[in-house]
Formats: sequence, C-alpha cells, structure tokens
Amino acid sequence: MEVIIRENADSCAEIAAKIVAKYLREKKSPVLGLATGSTPEKMYRKLISMNEKGEISFSHCTTFNLDEYVGLPPDHSQSYHRYMKQNLFDHIDIGMGSTHIPDGNAPDLRLECLNYEKAIKNEGGIDLQILGIGSNGHIGFNEPIGSLSSRTWIKILTQNTIKDNARFFDDDSQVPRHVITMGIGTILEAEHCLILACGKQKSMAVQAMIEGPITSQCPSSALQFHKRTTAVLDEDAACLLKLKSHYKWVEENHLDWQQYD
Ligand code: GLP
Repeated sequence: MEVIIRENADSCAEIAAKIVAKYLREKKSPVLGLATGSTPEKMYRKLISMNEKGEISFSHCTTFNLDEYVGLPPDHSQSYHRYMKQNLFDHIDIGMGSTHIPDGNAPDLRLECLNYEKAIKNEGGIDLQILGIGSNGHIGFNEPIGSLSSRTWIKILTQNTIKDNARFFDDDSQVPRHVITMGIGTILEAEHCLILACGKQKSMAVQAMIEGPITSQCPSSALQFHKRTTAVLDEDAACLLKLKSHYKWVEENHLDWQQYD
C-alpha cells in the first residue's frame, strides 16, 4: 500500500484532489467511485474550486457512490443522495444522468443491488475509488466480520457505527439499521483505491488496515490485497503506524512519474 502522510486535513484534501484531477484530465471517460462522510468534504470543496477555475471538468465522467441508507427519503438531510448534491454534484459540470447512488428506497432492494453491480460493469469498472474509513475499520458500510469478497448488498450496521453516525441525526434511534453498500469484492476490483483518514479517532483503524493482519475483523485490511491503494493520512490518523518513517522515506524517493504534488 502506498502511504502518504500530510500535516493536517487540509493538506490531505489538497493531495487527494490532485489525484482525482489526474484521472479527470488523463482518462477519456473516467469512472469515479465516490464516498460520503465528513472526511472527503474538504477534498470535494477543492475539486469544486478547480472546476470553477476551469482547471478540471467532470462533463465526461461517470460516478458510482459506495453506499446509501435504506429507507431514508432521497431529500432527507442525512441521505447520501442529498449529501452528494450538496457537497459536489450541484456545484460541478456533471450530468446527473452520469451519477449513480444505490437506491435505498427501491421496491426490490436485492434487485437494486444486482443492477448496481451490472451498471458498474457496463461502464467498464471503476478507475479510481475514493474511500473513507470507519473507526472500526469499515469501508463503505462493510462492517467487521462481513465477507471479504462480498458484492453490493443490503447490510446491517453495527451498534458502533450507529453511535458514530448518530452525531448527524437527532439521536441513535433515528439512524437506519440497514444500508446498501458496494461489497469488499466490488471495491477491490477498482483500478486504484484512494482511502482518506484524518484525526486521532481513526488511528487504531488505520494502523490495523495498513500494518495489521488481513482479517474480516478489520474490513479495510482487505486493501492489502489490492493492486494499487493509496492511503492519504494526516499526522493524527498516522500516529500509531509503526513504519511511519519508512512511508515518508518511500515518498521522498518517489520517481518523477510517481509524484502527485
Ligand atoms: C460512513 C460511510 C463511510 C465513511 C465513514 C466515515 O459510515 N458509510 O463510507 O467512510 O462513515 O465517516 P467520516 O469520514 O465522517 O468519519
């Protein structure tokens, strides 16, 4: 795994936006996998500003979001449909027809999941998958002990995640128990995964993901199997990494074509 450590959340967002911009500039029809949560918000703001300045365009791009709550109306303040419109889609030159988010209100949720997988395949797969990480090591909404080869499906949140995400709702009881999420197997098929983590509350999960054993107890550790994953971390999220100085050494010795800055 490629590990990039930056001083703070702002400098993480900066480099993450540069990585996304590279795909938008270099690919004819880029397919982006998108994530929600508070971590990628700053990166989305930087991408919006680059788009406004004409430095990048999303007009040729297709997107697939990782996950969505089951049963929240799309205009609910905490639905990921609403999040994406507010944090990205309403501010960039993307056609809404090119954006995809699992429909947590589909009359047949199982069919929705199967069709979501098909839609990703029809676009030729995901070029760059953006990810955040839960404090228990989840990616998308793939919670501990779930299969490491799962596909897009309906999952039940752990009480830990319900508690973590309750900060966005009135209280725990308002957080849906069920979600649709791309599976770990779906995520591992992306050409490149870009996982972002900021803050001390993520440091244990980050250490387990990068340096721990590959185990379904920490679903993000499956990324150790992935051919190309870049982890962008701030100093706080990286504070428990045992090989921190090695990751910095590797970055300092990157060849020109490996640089993002
Ligand atoms: C949710 C999302 C994940 C996200 C995680 C972390 O559970 N489903 O995709 O990575 O939250 O969110 P935050 O960045 O707010 O810590």
